[in-house]
Amino acid sequence: MSNRYLVNFNLSELEMVETEFLIIGSGIAGLWAAHKAGRHWRDIILITKRGIEDTTTVHAQGGIAAAVGPDDDPFCHYRDTLEAGAGLCDPVAVEILVTEGRERIEELARLGVNFDKVDSQWHLTSEGGHSRKRVLHAGGDATGQEIQRVLTKVVGSHPHIQVLEDHFLVDILVDRDVCWGALVHHAGKLKVIKAPVTVLATGGGGQVYLSTTTPEIATGDGIAAAYRAGVEVMDMEFVQFHPTVLALKGAPPFNISEAVRGEGAWLVNSKGERFMSAYHPLGELAPRDVVARSIYQEMQKTGSDKVFLTLRHLEEEWVHRRFPTISRRLKFYGLDLARDLIPVAPAVHYFMGGVKTGYWGETSLKGLYACGEVACTGVHGANRLASNSLLEGLVFSSRAVEHAWQNRALLEQAFIRAEKKAKGEGLLPSPSVDWEGLRGELRALMQAHVSLCRCREGLELALGELEKYSQKLLYHSPAVEAMEFKNMLQVAWLIAEGALIRTESRGAHWRSDYPQTEERWQRHLIFKRQVQ
Ligand code: SIN
Repeated sequence: MSNRYLVNFNLSELEMVETEFLIIGSGIAGLWAAHKAGRHWRDIILITKRGIEDTTTVHAQGGIAAAVGPDDDPFCHYRDTLEAGAGLCDPVAVEILVTEGRERIEELARLGVNFDKVDSQWHLTSEGGHSRKRVLHAGGDATGQEIQRVLTKVVGSHPHIQVLEDHFLVDILVDRDVCWGALVHHAGKLKVIKAPVTVLATGGGGQVYLSTTTPEIATGDGIAAAYRAGVEVMDMEFVQFHPTVLALKGAPPFNISEAVRGEGAWLVNSKGERFMSAYHPLGELAPRDVVARSIYQEMQKTGSDKVFLTLRHLEEEWVHRRFPTISRRLKFYGLDLARDLIPVAPAVHYFMGGVKTGYWGETSLKGLYACGEVACTGVHGANRLASNSLLEGLVFSSRAVEHAWQNRALLEQAFIRAEKKAKGEGLLPSPSVDWEGLRGELRALMQAHVSLCRCREGLELALGELEKYSQKLLYHSPAVEAMEFKNMLQVAWLIAEGALIRTESRGAHWRSDYPQTEERWQRHLIFKRQVQ
């Protein structure tokens, strides 16, 4: 559906910068990659599309999973991850995650991340699909904020890392199978950053939906840019809905952490009845896809657009102390987390799919790595186990840096040999377009037809509408909102197309017209654009 480049450009007219190591994105994966690269390279650039702390990581509440408890072991974490992933996890990738995870957590703690403790031991909680308490947290329910705070400081004060804010990734620059850098947009101008190593850590694209816990920046830029450059993209149909997102008129969809259920909260329907045990033996702590679907079905049954979380049976003062961020936010809307019924409904939270990588974060292009939510390492399969994503960001960004370091001579040679030529041409002068308005329409379309429950008619209708929007791809408009819209359109198309092709239900992909999980579908869908 897309052109090779988002905009017209002529390389010879653009500012050029060269670096040894380029990182795109400043969430946990990007910052960790920078931190690790800082041990080897002397000239590192990290770009981020807004401020360094405008990330999805900052919003992570519940925590980070790792087998660190006395009754736990990596194999148990491995089993739970595979179980949640509904047959599509890559067992080798999962083994890497669970075995290397503990060391990464210890490194984070040594850097100054203050994980919550009880009696000088890390306090561990449970979340859906975990058979052991293994979720570390910080500031009660502000885990992402704490990790972001520490890593921002570490990276920001590193003498060899230059952080460039308000730098938007436009496109990845490629010669045959070698990535030689990126075209970026800053302060109304395009520029080129050349590098033998480029790490994509741009996060997911939850903003293609209307109801999402993800921040505004999550517009799928890295996935769309990689796809345009001919990089393989996998599992896009698997979009995770967080089951319990605040559903209150006038309030944005704010995540009520799964850890709240991990600590004993119940779900009740609009008649005040608990219902989860009718859907799954693990009740409120079933895997996330199961809970989201059960809530959806319960809402249909009761003719309501929400269910409720209740913590009334828990100790009031402890509830507020354990979940200070959520408690404060709800108070702002006149709700008491410990005493009121909290209205919730599922909303888009995380992309299991993304840029296909190997076990070292390597993509199908030499010199291009991907890690964090933008990547599809195979760890999450069809449904991510709660709190595995921060861990994945750490483990696989470490590996990407290690791989690039071990292969630096090869990457350097490939970079030197790559013809650094590119020309964006053929796009038409843009008439005045209401990009913001289009963004809203696209999000509403995806919410209505490519949502938690999907069917052929809805998906075909959505794809037809997306095709109409694709006319807008023909216009040259270097404004960030135009480029974001084009990326969102590309990502929306990949999700809808994948969802239509996959004629079964599995993990987060639920087809009302194909409700069964089919053995013949125990495989991945990979999209790759032909680049001339
Ligand atoms: C949450 O706190 O519920 C989010 C955890 C996650 O998405 O893994």
